[in-house]
Amino acid sequence: MRILSGVQSSGKLHIGNYYGALRQFVHLQDEGEAYYFIANYHALTTVRDPKLALELTRDAATAYLALGLDPKKAILFRQSDVREVLELYWILGTVTPVANLERAHSYKDKIAKGISPDFGLFAYPVLMAADILLYSADFVPVGKDQVQHIEFARDWAVKFNTQYVPGYDPADPDGEERGHAPGILKLPAARIQESTAVVPGIDGQKMSKSYGNTIDLFGDEKEVKKRIMSIKTDSTPVEAPKPTTDSPLYDLLKLMLPESEFHDVDATWKAGGKGYGEYKKKLLEAYHATFGPARQRHAELVADPGELERILQDGANRAREEAARLMDKVRRAVGIP
Ligand code: ADP
Ligand code: TRP
Repeated sequence: MRILSGVQSSGKLHIGNYYGALRQFVHLQDEGEAYYFIANYHALTTVRDPKLALELTRDAATAYLALGLDPKKAILFRQSDVREVLELYWILGTVTPVANLERAHSYKDKIAKGISPDFGLFAYPVLMAADILLYSADFVPVGKDQVQHIEFARDWAVKFNTQYVPGYDPADPDGEERGHAPGILKLPAARIQESTAVVPGIDGQKMSKSYGNTIDLFGDEKEVKKRIMSIKTDSTPVEAPKPTTDSPLYDLLKLMLPESEFHDVDATWKAGGKGYGEYKKKLLEAYHATFGPARQRHAELVADPGELERILQDGANRAREEAARLMDKVRRAVGIP
């Protein structure tokens, strides 16, 4: 089983990225052949400062490793180190209906916010599909917001195979029945971790770097504390039971505390008698207990940039081999010498 996923290097990573994505990546490295990359081409749709683009790419790779990604088990690489992805992106674009791109949630959301779209933003899902299909991924672990993109990748893979693979039957994509040919592009499936599908930010909206409501994974200690202490709460008095809905503090405690500890917190939360300040302190402790070791490893990696580069180069070499094999078939199928 081949697992593949990417994170866009467009900002500092936060705990929403961890619970929604990175944590699964790290676990999944034991379940199959894992390909993880830093989507630094995608990041150019939002990051226009070259120094920052380089820095965020490095940051994202460091974060993966600090959080437990083992380069001996998983292949870690930069999207831009395998240029074949841009070739597949173009070819895929020739079978991509514009109507699909026009109804992409991520695109529509940005338009709704008044962002005037460029082609890169519009074509974002095509590059993402190329990322996935280039490595013949079986599973793509992602947050809920990315599921539509995976569905697009499947749809366009079917379109490509139908157009270019003689004997391909969409009802039998792996060509298991007699007389059917397997597709060149393998159909991927999304894999979502339902229980933590949306991590709330300190203001109660979805945690997102674009809302400025994040708790960062490797942020400055004082800033992390400040963020946690400013989590939005209501005016329920100390002695009263606290509401469990619409409470980012409650949700974050549930996410970050070990189950037995959360059990106790849950009991006092519902009984009353403790103020929100105390719960925030508890959350801060949980943050350090959870991410302390990773923060330590992160600091070590930052101090040794040569090691990081070696890991990324090795990952790129392995990824490139796989990409070359697939592109060979794709070029032959479409008639590119
Ligand atoms: P952001 O919303 O901060 O811009 P990205 O869109 O770069 O984050 O998301 C990177 C990954 O992290 C995606 O797989 C996304 O689904 C996941 N993710 C981001 N924010 C959250 C969240 N609040 N809850 C759960 N998963 C999230
Ligand atoms: N769009 C993804 C995100 O914002 C990042 C990404 C790019 C990705 N290419 C991918 C994720 C391929 C999975 C597979 O999170």
